[in-house]
Amino acid sequence: MKTYFALFSFLIGLFAASLLLQNISAQNTEHVEKLIVDDGWQAVQENCTECHSTLLITQNSGSKAVWESRIRWMQETQGLQQLEDSLEESILNYLTQNYGQKESSRRASLSITLMPDNPYEPID
Ligand code: HEC
Repeated sequence: MKTYFALFSFLIGLFAASLLLQNISAQNTEHVEKLIVDDGWQAVQENCTECHSTLLITQNSGSKAVWESRIRWMQETQGLQQLEDSLEESILNYLTQNYGQKESSRRASLSITLMPDNPYEPID
């Protein structure tokens, strides 16, 4: 009887430890895999993170047509499944709304007077 109790307690302990570990890894994932929370973010989480991290998505930007072309490219060459029309529409709207076309991702050049001397400039 005593051995059964010991075995039972051991199993309960193991179960609790596994829950704790699961919880820790879920928290880490949440932290790393961050999407802006807005209409449609779950659809992106569910359909777009199987093959690559969310970061590959969030570091990109573009108009609806650009996002659509990326989806087509993945469908034609990377094995992304066909998405139901309404699902694709909500994913595209989410991406366009939250990771839309940027005017420019580079800052403007510094004025020439603020630049260091060019070491390669010919000496006259
Ligand atoms: C079946 C696998 C798969 C799924 C599911 C998937 N992708 Fe991809 N995706 C890829 C592969 C493979 C690449 C190329 C990765 C690389 O360049 O390292 C990629 C690249 C990308 C890129 C980068 C494109 C570029 O120009 O650099 C974006 C953005 C992207 N995916 C968005 C999405 C979105 C949005 C979804 C959901 C609709 C999605 N992916 C679902 C396989 C997938």
